[in-house]
Amino acid sequence: MKRIAFSLLAFVAFLAGFPSARAFIDRPAFAEDSIRILSPADETFVNETESLAVVCRIPKGAFDAIQISINGKVAKTITPLADKVVVCTTVAVRPGMDRIAVAAMKAGGAVAAAEASVFDRTALSVQYSVEPAGYRQYFFHSTRSDCFLCHKMEPADSDNYPAKPSDSSCYVCHKNITQHKYVHGPAAAWSCLTCHSKDAKPKYEAASPVSRTCAMCHQDTMDAWKKMQFMHGPTAMGICTACHDPHGSDWQYWLRKFPTDLCLSCHVGVTGDHIITFFNGQPHPIRGRPDPRHPGQELSCASCHSPHASNFHYMLFADYNDYRSFCTGCHRF
Ligand code: HEC
Ligand code: HEC
Ligand code: HEC
Ligand code: HEC
Ligand code: HEC
Ligand code: HEC
Ligand code: HEC
Ligand code: HEC
Repeated sequence: MKRIAFSLLAFVAFLAGFPSARAFIDRPAFAEDSIRILSPADETFVNETESLAVVCRIPKGAFDAIQISINGKVAKTITPLADKVVVCTTVAVRPGMDRIAVAAMKAGGAVAAAEASVFDRTALSVQYSVEPAGYRQYFFHSTRSDCFLCHKMEPADSDNYPAKPSDSSCYVCHKNITQHKYVHGPAAAWSCLTCHSKDAKPKYEAASPVSRTCAMCHQDTMDAWKKMQFMHGPTAMGICTACHDPHGSDWQYWLRKFPTDLCLSCHVGVTGDHIITFFNGQPHPIRGRPDPRHPGQELSCASCHSPHASNFHYMLFADYNDYRSFCTGCHRF
């Protein structure tokens, strides 16, 4: 009887054209002493993600604190607002399996708990490039809508050009995404909708392959690469975001890692031996020295190889059979 009364209430609210707070709070039946994770969804995977929102449903005023742990380590403890039935926060995650556990505390002890396992997939690790069997991709925006009670979930086109970042409707939930030393122009301007269309299916999903998105603004550069004789595998496949974070990073060119580490993620075990071994058995350096060809930068694999394309074998900057032009690109012997 109670159930029917509630769904009637929801129906009336629906007809009246405004969201029903009761429908959100009571669906499905929710025990007074429990905690439920609203986001992320259990047994899902995400791609190349550095942080995740953890949003929990709790009974109003029931708990003193909510403790969030990742893979057994406490990441955050938050005090829920007395008048709210949700707690919203963000935690840092790393590639591979992230087991998120939330514990509701009262008088110093845990009285309720919930868990969700999310796999953070990345192209830069052989180990973590494939999700576990049975895990589905998490498309938050096309699978939930009940956050709209407190958050703006339907941006206007004009939201793509906010006067300041916090004017963007994406900012409240995604502010971490641009907190980096180097930030990509359109992300720094919070023009998120340029690359994440609200009409995309699933909602906000960037075009595939990713290079289609990059081509909107870097077409000339990419055309020049296509005209070259040799093109690097992942660049040719259009998976630009294997190496570049489209939002920003702590490395120049918004790279996901320092170039040498980036290359070694896929080309495991390559050493300076492949260039030359010195008479004392030492390999040629591949990092930790100034790069003579790029003043101000550190020597890396990218000092000799283009990560995109070139007219020389192995995407080198010059023909390596011609030591005169290759080695003397950096050395005077
Ligand atoms: C009862 C109101 C309410 C509901 C429902 C709600 N939120 Fe929130 N949320 C808030 C408030 C208040 C803040 C803090 C706003 C601020 O920092 O300006 C917040 C902040 C956040 C943040 C930022 C946390 C951080 O680390 O700064 C995220 C992410 C978030 N909410 C996600 C969600 C999601 C996803 C849902 C739906 C599953 C949801 N919220 C539902 C009230 C709510
Ligand atoms: C109420 C909070 C909230 C708001 C507002 C919000 N997002 Fe999200 N978004 C999330 C959560 C939660 C996820 C799931 C992954 C995570 O936890 O970071 C997510 C995931 C995404 C994803 C990955 C694909 C997916 O659907 O899971 C994209 C892309 C994205 N958001 C873009 C946007 C853009 C663009 C805006 C603004 C127009 C926006 N979001 C506004 C909470 C929010
Ligand atoms: C230049 C294009 C571009 C812009 C601008 C951009 N994104 Fe993205 N974003 C992408 C692409 C491409 C992906 C998919 C990356 C992948 O799967 O390899 C992505 C992935 C995401 C994801 C899921 C993965 C992650 O990093 O957590 C979220 C969330 C997201 N974007 C939110 C935003 C928000 C919020 C903004 C505005 C500040 C924004 N994006 C601006 C291109 C862009
Ligand atoms: C909406 C236009 C736009 C899109 C789409 C876009 N970019 Fe950019 N990008 C820019 C602008 C503007 C700059 C120069 C300003 C700056 O340094 O942020 C830039 C600079 C860069 C740079 C640094 C170039 C340099 O010489 O310093 C890299 C790397 C880059 N973008 C990669 C990408 C990748 C990868 C994608 C696709 C995921 C992409 N961009 C999509 C606008 C865009
Ligand atoms: C294998 C890793 C990798 C892939 C894949 C990759 N990049 Fe890069 N990119 C780099 C590195 C490293 C640099 C900085 C050093 C350099 O340019 O030699 C760079 C620099 C850039 C620059 C600035 C310098 C320039 O050449 O103009 C742009 C723009 C860029 N990348 C765009 C893209 C786009 C678009 C794609 C996809 C079509 C892509 N990248 C794919 C690693 C990569
Ligand atoms: C996402 C994985 C990935 C990353 C990161 C990556 N590569 Fe590659 N690389 C490939 C693939 C795939 C091929 C093509 C397969 C092949 O020919 O061996 C390739 C081919 C090459 C080749 C040609 C090999 C040959 O025998 O013809 C060179 C040289 C190379 N990569 C250098 C680099 C450098 C330098 C970096 C860092 C800037 C880098 N790669 C980063 C995946 C990657
Ligand atoms: C000082 C210049 C230089 C640096 C730095 C350099 N390489 Fe090379 N690389 C070469 C030359 C020259 C060749 C071709 C000659 C050969 O194979 O003996 C080559 C060939 C390659 C090849 C294809 C042939 C093979 O051995 O499989 C790959 C892959 C490669 N390099 C990856 C890398 C990676 C990854 C790094 C960084 C860890 C790197 N290189 C750093 C000069 C360099
Ligand atoms: C991208 C630039 C670059 C290229 C190309 C390059 N090297 Fe080097 N090489 C370096 C740097 C940087 C060092 C470290 C110099 C230092 O410690 O001051 C080095 C060190 C050396 C050394 C040790 C002696 C010294 O000068 O410290 C030898 C020998 C050497 N390289 C040989 C070669 C040969 C042979 C080639 C061609 C196959 C080559 N290098 C190509 C950058 C380069």
